[in-house]
Amino acid sequence: MHMIVTGGAGFLGQQCIARLLQAESFALAPEAAQPIRALTAFDVVEGDYQHPKLRYVVGDIADPHQVSALFRDDTAAIIHLAAVVSGTAEANFDLGMRVNLDGIRNLLQAARAQAKPIRLLFASSIAVFGGELPEVVRDETTPTPQGSYGIQKYIGEQLVQDYSRKGFIDGRSVRIPTVVVRPGKPNGAASGFASNIIREPLAGRRVVLPVDPATAMWVASPRAVVTMLMHALSLAPELWGWNRAINLPGLTVTMHEEIAALAKVAGQEPLSLIEQRPDPSILRLVNTWASRFDTARALAMGFTADDDVEAIVRAYVEDHPEAIHKL
Ligand SMILES: NC(=O)c1ccc[n+]([C@@H]2O[C@H](COP(=O)([O-])OP(=O)(O)OC[C@H]3O[C@@H](n4cnc5c(N)ncnc54)[C@H](O)[C@@H]3O)[C@@H](O)[C@H]2O)c1
Repeated sequence: MHMIVTGGAGFLGQQCIARLLQAESFALAPEAAQPIRALTAFDVVEGDYQHPKLRYVVGDIADPHQVSALFRDDTAAIIHLAAVVSGTAEANFDLGMRVNLDGIRNLLQAARAQAKPIRLLFASSIAVFGGELPEVVRDETTPTPQGSYGIQKYIGEQLVQDYSRKGFIDGRSVRIPTVVVRPGKPNGAASGFASNIIREPLAGRRVVLPVDPATAMWVASPRAVVTMLMHALSLAPELWGWNRAINLPGLTVTMHEEIAALAKVAGQEPLSLIEQRPDPSILRLVNTWASRFDTARALAMGFTADDDVEAIVRAYVEDHPEAIHKL
């Protein structure tokens, strides 16, 4: 089979592609693993990961012609990750609408035009929850997004739901927790500080914590998220039923707990590189986000979270030895 990963040059895209191609096959139905013959990564740039079965196509998800051209007769699955993230979508409304909303619409229309319903996994976000929320967000809590990014993700989920109901695709949307620790340079996500306060001190660089250390977030490691994305893609449609969107398991972690985990893994020295300086624009967004979830449905469907925040920091150190200044 052929698979498409949009946003394939991005952080989660590169990791999903590596996981898929290292496995060489994928089961879209129980006990029916099929060899992955080719994988197309679509993005505005090329990624670093290379493999003989991988082809990068550079283009714009907002262009319907470019999106249609990605499909082949044997395209069986799509992971849709292309997006502009929260801070960028908030700062540039038109760009967010174009990439996050027109993008998924183009992809769904192109998938619908194929001969058979294609399996499609959409990377949504817990940013669909905001405003006046219950103490614990449950599976039945109605999304009430408070930012443009969350609104765009929620509309995307609804479209995946309707295209699946109509039998045009076999879709599913997962609401991903904030992924910590994100490697590389800080990106446009308003939640970026949750990674920055671990990654930057470990690299020997100064970092600003723009929120109160008591701020809690719903987080998951890159390893856990990629495993959950693979699981979501593999689950049979009957297991989803009519409800094609799910809150993924994670951990509720305060920034104070993150800093304590950093100290356990790397000692006290990196902590001196963290400066607390509140940023009102980030506080405005973060204070509307949900940080406590009961993900009973996802746990029953076999999704699993990380053990604890210290394990997340240790996994980052293991996976990115090149980014560690000295320990
Ligand atoms: N990382 C997180 O904490 C997190 C949390 C919740 C949801 N998500 C979602 O998961 C997905 C992947 O996240 P990520 O962390 O890898 O982000 P990322 O920014 O690293 O990847 C997104 C990719 O989309 C690409 N892209 C942007 N505009 C495009 C366009 N017009 N056409 C084609 N490609 C375009 C970018 O170049 C980038 O490579 C996103 O949809 C994001 O909203 C991420």
